[in-house]
Formats: sequence, C-alpha cells, structure tokens
Amino acid sequence: MGFDMSNLIMKRRSIRNFKDVKLTEEEIQELVKAGLFAPTSRSNKGVELIVVDEKDLILKLKDCRNTSTKGLETAPCAIVVIGDREKSDVWVEDGAIAASYIQLRAEDLGLGSVWIQMRNRVSDNDSSENEVRRLLSIPEKYGVLCIIALGHKNENKEAYTENDLDRFRVHYNKF
Ligand SMILES: Cc1cc2nc3c(=O)[nH]c(=O)nc-3n(C[C@H](O)[C@H](O)[C@H](O)COP(=O)(O)O)c2cc1C
Repeated sequence: MGFDMSNLIMKRRSIRNFKDVKLTEEEIQELVKAGLFAPTSRSNKGVELIVVDEKDLILKLKDCRNTSTKGLETAPCAIVVIGDREKSDVWVEDGAIAASYIQLRAEDLGLGSVWIQMRNRVSDNDSSENEVRRLLSIPEKYGVLCIIALGHKNENKEAYTENDLDRFRVHYNKF
C-alpha cells in the first residue's frame, strides 16, 4: 500500500507542549500550502492565513483569549485562520477545512499542532476576534476563526485505535 491516510488520521492528536525549535521555512511553506489548497465554497478563496513566528507576538495572541490557550505558550509558530465575511457566508466552514488540512499536514511532517478557538470566545476585555484583529491589524471584514499552534512535539500522545471509534454516532439510511 502507498501513503496511509488512515494511519495519519489516527495518529494526529492535539499537542500543547512544543520543543524550543523553530520551524524551517520549508515546513512553514508546506503548512501554508495545505491551507491554501483546501477547498472553499464556490471556490471563493476567502480564507487567508497569518503566519506568526515571533515569540512575543505569539504570547500576545495567547492573551487574546482568557482560557484554553496553553498550546500558544511554547509554540514556535502559529497560523491564524481568518475568512473574508464579504466573500462568503460560509467562511467558518471554509476556514475549518483549511485549519484541518494544516493540522493533518503538520502530522504528516512529523510536527504537532492544536486548534485554539477564537471565534465566539473572549478575553478579559473584549471578544477574542476583536483582540486578534487589533493585534495583527486585520481589517474588520475578516472573521477570525482560530489559531493553529504548531511546532515539534514535546509530549507523547497515543494514536487512536479502532477501540476509540464511537460507532453509535453513525446512522445508516435513517437516524
Ligand atoms: C473547533 C475546535 C475548537 C478547539 N478549541 C480548542 C482550544 O481553544 N484550545 C485547545 O487547547 N484545544 C482546542 N481544540 C482541540 C480539542 O480539544 C481536541 O481536538 C479534542 O479534545 C480531541 O483531542 P485530539 O485532537 O487529541 O484528538 C479544539 C478543537 C476543535 C475541533
């Protein structure tokens, strides 16, 4: 058998601890490519990515939300996934696919990642979306979906096995 997509999907786990090792420019470009090749509704291509590789800026991104941002503490790279709300009424779906592609490509490259939600979340002062827009000078028309924290894994997480499958969540021909 050639490339094992099933194995890749089962191996990907959320990684929230990263080694103090920068990603190479090649790695970053491969991750960006995965996000940009992800499909968008009517091919509107309204999803845009902001690569952040400056440590102090990544820590400021962490402050844009009041909880669940541990992954940004040690990540050497973060990709902010945003969508043009004027181009698409399904920018959330488009962005989610791009983010997932980035996460799977990260696993494929032997890297770890975690999705940090920003949409519908808050900091101590404002919505996380507003905080991120201000910090990175993102125009108002863009929604901020999430930040993918990326880096070399500094924790071990077991791959999923067939036993982890919730078969009850699948229905055939009727609910
Ligand atoms: C839409 C979405 C939002 C998430 N938000 C966060 C988050 O804000 N912070 C975080 O650490 N993990 C977040 N996660 C990661 C989930 O907690 C994680 O995927 C889930 O617990 C399953 O674990 P696994 O990724 O190892 O399979 C998010 C995942 C998704 C799909």
